[in-house]
Amino acid sequence: VAEDHAAAAGLGAPRSEIADDPQPAYARWRAAPEPGRTEHGSRLFARSADVADILRRPEVFVAPIPPQLAVADALTPFGTDAAAHRRLRATLEPLFSLAHGFEVGKAIVRVVNELMDEFAYQGEIDFATQFSKPFAGRLLALLLGLPDTDVPDLLALNDGVLRPHELAAEPPGSYAANSYRAKALAALYDYFGSVIEQRRTQPGEDVLSGLLAAEHDGAPLPDAAVLHICLVLLLAAIDPMSAALDCVFLHLCRHPGDRALVVQNPALRRSLVEELLRWESPVMMVSRTATLDTSVGGCPVSAEEQVVAVLGAANSDPELVAQPDEFQPERRINPHLAFGGGIHRCLGSHVARLALRITLREWHARIPDYALAPGAQVGHSFGIRTTPTMPMLLGRPA
Ligand code: HEM
Repeated sequence: VAEDHAAAAGLGAPRSEIADDPQPAYARWRAAPEPGRTEHGSRLFARSADVADILRRPEVFVAPIPPQLAVADALTPFGTDAAAHRRLRATLEPLFSLAHGFEVGKAIVRVVNELMDEFAYQGEIDFATQFSKPFAGRLLALLLGLPDTDVPDLLALNDGVLRPHELAAEPPGSYAANSYRAKALAALYDYFGSVIEQRRTQPGEDVLSGLLAAEHDGAPLPDAAVLHICLVLLLAAIDPMSAALDCVFLHLCRHPGDRALVVQNPALRRSLVEELLRWESPVMMVSRTATLDTSVGGCPVSAEEQVVAVLGAANSDPELVAQPDEFQPERRINPHLAFGGGIHRCLGSHVARLALRITLREWHARIPDYALAPGAQVGHSFGIRTTPTMPMLLGRPA
C-alpha cells in the first residue's frame, strides 16, 4: 500500500490501478511535455520513437543485471557488453528458432490438453493456478527436457526468487525476504547443476542438450554459462508466459465478441493473438541503465541514470500503429513491441506465439463457454501483468 501511494505520486495513479487498466496511464505518459519519473526516480519513456531509440542503442542503454543474479564468471544473456551479447544471441537463437516447430507444437498440444483434463468437467476453476502458471512451467520443462514432476518445485522456486517478500510475509528487501531469495537461488543452481551433469551423459533433442553441444566463440559453452542461461530462461519464461495467458483469457472473458471470433473464425487466430499482445502488453516495460551522458527525444539522460522504456505505451502510440485505441482482431500491420526490440528482444517469442495460438485453439474446442466468477477480484501485478488468482466458471457464456 505504501508502495502504491509512492507510485501514485510519480506515475499519476497507484501501481495496482495502472496494471489493471494501463491504457489511460500510457496515454498520459505519452502526452506529458517531458518524460515523467517513477517513484524511484527512473525516467519513463512512453513514446514509440523514444522506446525504439533506447532499445536500439544497447551500447548506451544496457540491460541491468538484477544484483541477485550477478555471477562473476558466467556469460549471461543479460550481459552488459553488447558485442558479447550479440555473439551469445547468435549461438542461442537457432535453438529457439522452432526448426523443430512441429514437434514442439505437438508437445504443446499435449500439455494444454493434459492440464485441461484435470478440470474440464469442473464447474469452477482458478485459471491462474490451474492453467496459466502450470502451463508456463510445463512449457519451460518441455523446452529444457525436464520431468513434468519437477514443475511444481520450479514454480515455487521462481516465486522464491521473484517474490520472496510475499512468501516470507516480510517487507521487500528485509533480511527475511533476502534470505528466502538466496535459498531459492541456491536451490535452482543445485537443481540445474545436476540436470546439466546428467544431460552431458544422456543428451536429448531439447534446448539444454543443444546448449551443451553448441559451439560459442570456437569452444563449447562453459558449464557455468549453461547453468546461468538455464536460470535466466526460467525467470524470463514463466512470468511473461503466464501473464500473457492471464491477460488473453481475462480479455476474452470480458469481450464475448472477441471470444466468438476465436471460436467461429480460426483463420483470424494469428492476427488476433498479435492484437492481444499489442493491446494487453503482458510485459508493460523494460529498464535500462545509461552508460554515458546522452538524450532521448530531446530529453537529457545522464550517465548511470535508470530509464524505463514503456513497451505498452509504445504499442498504443499512433506513431506506431493506425487507430491504436481500437482493438482490431483483423489488424494487418501490427509492428508491436510486446516482445521488446534490439539485441534483448525476447528469445522465446516464436515459442510463446505458437503456445498462445495452440492454447486458443485447443481450449475453445473443448471449453467455448466460460466466464469470470461473479464478484471475482482479479488484479494484475505491475510490470509483468500476471494475475495471482482468476476464478472462472466453465460452461457459462461470458
Ligand atoms: C508471451 C510471452 C512472453 C512475452 C510477452 C515476453 C516478453 C519479453 C520481453 C519484453 C523481453 C525483453 C526484455 C528486455 O528487453 O529487457 C523478453 C526477453 C527474453 N525472453 Fe521473453 N517473453 C515471453 C515468453 C518467453 C518465453 C516462453 C521464453 C523462453 C522460452 C522467453 C525468454 C526470454 C529471454 C531469454 C529473454 C532475454 C533475452 C535477452 O536479453 O537477450 N520469453 N521477453
